[in-house]
Amino acid sequence: MQGQLKHLIDWKYWSDEDVRFVLNLARKVKHHRWEYQGHMQGNTLVMLFQKTSTRTRVSFEAGMTELGGHAINLDWRSTNFTLSKIRFETRYLCRNAALIMARLKENKDLMEMVDAATVPIINGCCNFYHPCQALADMLTIAEDREHGVSGARLTYIGVYNNVVNSLVSISAALGVKLTLVCPIKDPASVDEGALEKLADSGLLIETLDAAKAVAEADYVYTDTWLDMEYFNDPSYQAVKDERCALMLPYQINAQLMKGSQAKIMHDMPIHPGYEMAEDMVESERSIIYDQAENRLDAQKAIMLKLLQELK
Ligand code: CP
Repeated sequence: MQGQLKHLIDWKYWSDEDVRFVLNLARKVKHHRWEYQGHMQGNTLVMLFQKTSTRTRVSFEAGMTELGGHAINLDWRSTNFTLSKIRFETRYLCRNAALIMARLKENKDLMEMVDAATVPIINGCCNFYHPCQALADMLTIAEDREHGVSGARLTYIGVYNNVVNSLVSISAALGVKLTLVCPIKDPASVDEGALEKLADSGLLIETLDAAKAVAEADYVYTDTWLDMEYFNDPSYQAVKDERCALMLPYQINAQLMKGSQAKIMHDMPIHPGYEMAEDMVESERSIIYDQAENRLDAQKAIMLKLLQELK
């Protein structure tokens, strides 16, 4: 290995220049897919999932296939990560993989992988961050606007969670004006000092006035009110009931969106009737499926950039 070993834990650990570079690369890859065939030839991505997934699993595997590489899917529960130390198992994976993407419950476990790794680690979503989603979100906005993402007015309405932390980091790097309407903070996702850079740049508004935040937005974004893993878990019923009661006035629905020209975003999976009314999902202003599709090219760009750093 000649170059620098770089990981993607969250965008806040990358320079603004590198974030801009990877977004531009994602746009290039999206519009010139054939040119990038073969760029991962001979390379294997190991995907390790401790949690459920549809988009992350499919888009990383499809991305590697389209780039001429290969992806191996590992369900944590069927591996010996359950028996041994993260360090030892990670060291072994690095002897086979060019890249590892891990969706782990706890950021501290992901950091243990990073400490042991000799190949780039990509965070596929932990309790603190969801950087791959945030890049796909910015790619979606970049593709939707004539003059790029800088200056776009993005309003997030929902529970403050891991998705928000990464939206905050990437907005700060790309000059997006982010308004947060978050009556609840998920205690598992609290990342001290996360808002400082965005606030210092004058790009952050925090408010509970959802109607005003929607009226002033180009994009309105929401996410699940409860970690998707626990949404149907009976032991989380009390938390779910409490959150739903508090959050229902903040649901994205026709009444809230009345008079607004904002596009509607959601990172999926969607819980219709909770954070978003079902008729909003496929309404004419929804760009939700484009956003989900953009995971593919965003992650291709991330993988290409991380391997490029090693050269
Ligand atoms: N948005 C997202 O990460 O989707 P999956 O949980 O289905 O991977």
